[in-house]
Amino acid sequence: MRSVPLTLLLSAFLCATGCSDSGGEGETGGAGATSSTAGTTAGTGGAGVTSSVASGTGGATGVTSSVASGTGGATAVTSGTGGAGGGTGGAGGEEARVPAASASTLREAGEKANPPILIGAAISGGGLNNNDYKRVAAAEHNYVTAENEMKWDSVEPNAGQFSWGAADNIVNWAVSNRMQVKGHTLVWHNQLPGWANSLSGATQVEQAMRRHIEGVMGHFKDRIHSWDVVNEAVITDSDTGVGNPRMRPSVFFNALGDRFLDLAFEIAREQDPTAKLYYNDYSIDALNDKADYVYEMVKGMVERGVPIDGVGFQMHIGPPNNEAGGADVEANLRRFSELGLEVLISEMDINRCSNQVTAEEQLAYYHDIVAACFQLPKCVGITFWGINDGRSWLNSWSGALCNGQSSQSLLFNDQYQKKETYNKVMDALLGR
Ligand code: XIL
Repeated sequence: MRSVPLTLLLSAFLCATGCSDSGGEGETGGAGATSSTAGTTAGTGGAGVTSSVASGTGGATGVTSSVASGTGGATAVTSGTGGAGGGTGGAGGEEARVPAASASTLREAGEKANPPILIGAAISGGGLNNNDYKRVAAAEHNYVTAENEMKWDSVEPNAGQFSWGAADNIVNWAVSNRMQVKGHTLVWHNQLPGWANSLSGATQVEQAMRRHIEGVMGHFKDRIHSWDVVNEAVITDSDTGVGNPRMRPSVFFNALGDRFLDLAFEIAREQDPTAKLYYNDYSIDALNDKADYVYEMVKGMVERGVPIDGVGFQMHIGPPNNEAGGADVEANLRRFSELGLEVLISEMDINRCSNQVTAEEQLAYYHDIVAACFQLPKCVGITFWGINDGRSWLNSWSGALCNGQSSQSLLFNDQYQKKETYNKVMDALLGR
């Protein structure tokens, strides 16, 4: 297989205080050095398409997928040497997604896959002032997340007074380009206006949370496909997802305890019976303490009948977050999907600053992580956190260690030309 360096360089990291511009006190992540070599094998020898993560033997198995007819009449994507084994549907496994035969844009590759997969980007109001940005964003993507414009401080800057201009601008642009929209985000400890951050007491906080969810969801109803209902509710010591995972202190958790989570989803469901409702977090991308904790957390929600539809894995790779190999990511996404949930890659970028990820590693990560999601029919979308390198949030976020340099983290350069990272993503979407 394409050998993915799986050394978990647990890098300096800042998201403990939230990945925002609010100037948090950063902490340096622990120096864990778990390393493993793994290969991803799927459906060899007619064992079906239930992919398994296995120790790689000499890196011989490929992630390059081939499409073969299953012996049970099912069409299955199989990976592996020889490519001769057709899947039969596997023991309790789902069929793998079948890629398009060809595509000239990522959007087309996503739309022609069976089942289709949404290809998303974080869109900023500033970006939409640039014609090249708009052209590439709409040609290559069919799923939009507002980078900042739908956050609490933007839409409800004063208690009970909503401000829709910036958000409507993005949402209406998306709708006019036949793109789906993910509302981001209803309940988050970060980018809260001062008044919300200083609320206290269960009654006050619950009322404010209810008014916010109802106001925002009510306004965008019928233009929104899915919502990040709760973002980043869990924290670990190192914030690379390792050490002492627990609920994060926040105005919501401090006043309501664990129940704020269920409550937020219940209010959201009352407001919109059909929108997809997601939990979203960072550093839960591969197999680590935080991912285990979030797995148990959402499993509990599913068991209690809380209306959660899926989990977004932010997939910020390189500083300030973690690094993840394709095989680990696949195993992780798979276990969440086996809870009956949709999974999605929600904020992918791969930061090259400070050389913690080499150019070669970046290409392998882009390919293998996208492939890990693509293979899983319940992985319903892949969103990149921006369009072009020059506009990446990482360039100016201190935890990303860019010191004014470009993070080189995305798929397009500043002339809006496709980079090699784009080609790797396209390869993965076409099963190559
Ligand atoms: C980031 C934006 O990209 C920045 O422009 C802003 O300054 C801070 O927030 N996790 C999230 C996103 O859920 O909302 C964050 O977006 C990145 C980390």
